Amino acid sequence: MSPDPSTTSDLVTPALLVDVPTFERNLAAMDAVLPGAKLRPHVKAFKSTDMARRLDADGHHGFCAATPREIEGLVAAGLTDDLLLANETLDTARLGALAGRANITVAIDSDETLDAAIAGGVRSVLVDIDVGLPRCGCDVEDSARLADRARAAGLDVRGVMGYEGHVMMVHDRDKKRAKVEQAMAILLQAHEMVGGDIVSGGGTGTWDLNTWCTEIQAGSYTLMDTQYDELEMPFEKALSVLATVISISSKGWIIADCGLKALGMDHGNPSWDDGDVFFCSDEHITLMPRELSDWKVGDRVQIWPSHVDPTVARHEQFWLVDDDSVRDRWPIDLRHW
Ligand SMILES: Cc1ncc(COP(=O)(O)O)c(C=O)c1O
Repeated sequence: MSPDPSTTSDLVTPALLVDVPTFERNLAAMDAVLPGAKLRPHVKAFKSTDMARRLDADGHHGFCAATPREIEGLVAAGLTDDLLLANETLDTARLGALAGRANITVAIDSDETLDAAIAGGVRSVLVDIDVGLPRCGCDVEDSARLADRARAAGLDVRGVMGYEGHVMMVHDRDKKRAKVEQAMAILLQAHEMVGGDIVSGGGTGTWDLNTWCTEIQAGSYTLMDTQYDELEMPFEKALSVLATVISISSKGWIIADCGLKALGMDHGNPSWDDGDVFFCSDEHITLMPRELSDWKVGDRVQIWPSHVDPTVARHEQFWLVDDDSVRDRWPIDLRHW
């Protein structure tokens, strides 16, 4: 890489690209429906304090995080207004240590996670409710008891959260609306018992259909991926991996230098506009071009990841580009735990 790359051809590959005009359109589309505090952007998708600052500048001052590391990074970046660890953790001392510098709230769903919050010096909690995704969240029946225990221990119980992740990829919007309503009925039932101002939930896949939450926890809409791109939404793919063709086979395929270590593959193969993706291995992607003769070693290919979060977590930086011009570099500084 040249010290200060000015075009994408100066970049070492694999390189993670963010197309700036598309990214800005995604932000504007979200802001038109969920301005300010109606959206609590989830940093787990993009893991970058520079990107969080960009969203803060748009009026989204509260953030969701999935790991203590993400909370620490946001605090260090001065984004301290209202941080929610929308996940359970026993690693609470790290959060309590920041309580004097930032407004930090942690999700709890058991006596153990509540005890950890108290012992760690966390001051505020949300009760996390199981709304149908077989992951974290307590039963509605247990929510009031946990809230009472938290209040008795002097904690501020700010409300409830419930993530309807099992509904995100339902394609039919009427069916999806009904499923979101079903999930949110559970959350609202818990909220009646728990109290507090916050009902937090939702994600990119339910961003406009979840009208029951006081705030939506979306993050992927910023960058998108090929899986979310299957849904009818105004957000477009802004994230791609730039790779270099390193070998060409007379048998009809070309090989580029981005494989499993540069791509989150849990949602399947990535996509390529000029042909098919045959398969990925550690450092390689084997591509079946429509026209083999169009390609030579050294050419660049643009690969569309199928899942944004694990792809981002494999890279050290975003390159912000507009066409072939490199506009900026944003470190992916919230990685790891
Ligand atoms: C707790 C929680 N909230 C919200 C989201 C929504 O994120 P996305 O924007 O990817 O749909 C996620 C994604 O995994 C999540 O785990």
